[in-house]
Amino acid sequence: MHISTCSTRPFKDQRPGTSGLRKKVATFQRDNYLENFVQAILDSQPGLSGGSLVLGGDGRYFNRGAIQIILAMAAANGVARVILGRGGLLSTPAASCLIRKNQTNGGIILSASHNPGGPGQDFGIKFNTPNGGPAPEAVTEAIYRRTREITQFRILDAESVDLDSMGSCQLGEMLVDIIDPVSDYAELMSGIFDFDAIRELFASGEFRMRFDAMHAITGPYARQILEEMLGAEAGTVINGVPREDFGGGHPDPNLVHAHEIVELTRGVDAIDFAAASDGDGDRNMILGRNFFVTPSDSLAIMAATATMIKAYSNGLTGVARSMPTSQAVDRVARVLGFDCYETPTGWKYFGNLLDSNRITLCGEESFGSGSNHIREKDGLWAVLFWLNLLAIRRVSVADIVRQHWRDYGRNYYTRHDYEGLDARDAAGVVQHLQQQLDRLPGTRYGHFTVEFADEFAYTDPVDGTHSSHQGIRIGFSKGSRIVFRLSGTGTEGATLRVYLETYEDNPDKQDLPIAEVMAPLVAIAEQIGEIAKRTGRDGPSVIT
Ligand code: G1P
Ligand code: ZN
Repeated sequence: MHISTCSTRPFKDQRPGTSGLRKKVATFQRDNYLENFVQAILDSQPGLSGGSLVLGGDGRYFNRGAIQIILAMAAANGVARVILGRGGLLSTPAASCLIRKNQTNGGIILSASHNPGGPGQDFGIKFNTPNGGPAPEAVTEAIYRRTREITQFRILDAESVDLDSMGSCQLGEMLVDIIDPVSDYAELMSGIFDFDAIRELFASGEFRMRFDAMHAITGPYARQILEEMLGAEAGTVINGVPREDFGGGHPDPNLVHAHEIVELTRGVDAIDFAAASDGDGDRNMILGRNFFVTPSDSLAIMAATATMIKAYSNGLTGVARSMPTSQAVDRVARVLGFDCYETPTGWKYFGNLLDSNRITLCGEESFGSGSNHIREKDGLWAVLFWLNLLAIRRVSVADIVRQHWRDYGRNYYTRHDYEGLDARDAAGVVQHLQQQLDRLPGTRYGHFTVEFADEFAYTDPVDGTHSSHQGIRIGFSKGSRIVFRLSGTGTEGATLRVYLETYEDNPDKQDLPIAEVMAPLVAIAEQIGEIAKRTGRDGPSVIT
């Protein structure tokens, strides 16, 4: 078979963001756009030539076409073996599991996570390193540098691979193993959790659950694990067939976009437990009857109860949370006596902490949690964690959370997103905040006094990598906090995120309406950030 060497010119906008390179489908379909980025991965990661690669995506529009291009390029660049999910499908956590299990030289995952899919929507590509985790900054920067100087790419002139037939085939010199996307991941889960206990819970007939796959990748995973292996009733998984456009929806498991499942937890006929996951299966939302568990609380509760779960019964070495995530887990770590790390936003910052066994569990406020079982956040893992906990405790989700608040206090938490802003306006808010940092400490706003104000920076304790400009933190007395940060995953304009948190240790005040509790901090955020004045918006577009 013939290998073509094609000339190309660099694109200037191929620097990966918080989680890989994300652009509109039309951008990725421009001549050589995807090819340049893939060649930059192959050129900058020396192990790949002669090595092996895991490949798969969340099934969104252009997934299959992109897989064919990547296969032909991998073959032309001397990759010896590709492990490919059937149909070109792999959830992000399953890809991480496969990279680790097969000790490959990395993986390429095609996804724009929770961003909408379809011809006019988003596409994305990310490279994961041999530990199974998102490439750290040094690697993404090396890929980016390569995209700036690229002059040619190599591709095999070959027939398309039949993505839907399991088994092995040759593509030029390269071996392609097409595997069931679900089975290795399902086996990993059965080793972590007590499947017998969860099976009994479902068999009791007293427990009703629904899982919303949001027409995205977790449908096949959830069906096999929940319905087939754990015996949940047929129909437990809703919207379970992955579609290229996610049914026209926004596959983001939060109270706004996963409205359908939220409704099932309300009213007289409410179900006991509900959950949802995102486009590529790494996020999770946990709901009880008439009850929403914030991702920050979910992380804290997992940390507090982990020893009840088979895989963590020996205890945790430590935990980590991204900086904007609430400090609820910090309190658990303090009481139970393990370390707690605060990292910048993005799962890649947890990799070294997990690899060096400094932490066992980690999570982000953005509906992500995970553990040392892989190196990505893991939506279904979180759902199984909660199911396992419910199977042991046999109380409601709300009871578990309220008990946690009584034991540790409650960190009220909310996030306000201002989406689609003019990039200069958004940068203006951040600059305005930066200019005030020195003089804010000591300032009083009603009952709140500023204790510290800074721009978050992080030095990785393992390899010393320094990451600066990771968001503005304004800390108040008694643990209240406002964080401002610009999103690094959007494909249009800029998104400003404002994260608000306040702590309450009085059990009589732990069940107040969140909007009421947060109102004073919302006003302070506006006063300090001048968001309305500088962006022309009178309120956030999404509140989670
Ligand atoms: C968002 C979340 C972040 C998460 C990332 C990838 O990034 O805030 O926690 O790691 O998506 O799922 P952002 O758009 O804020 O940069
Ligand atoms: Zn995701």
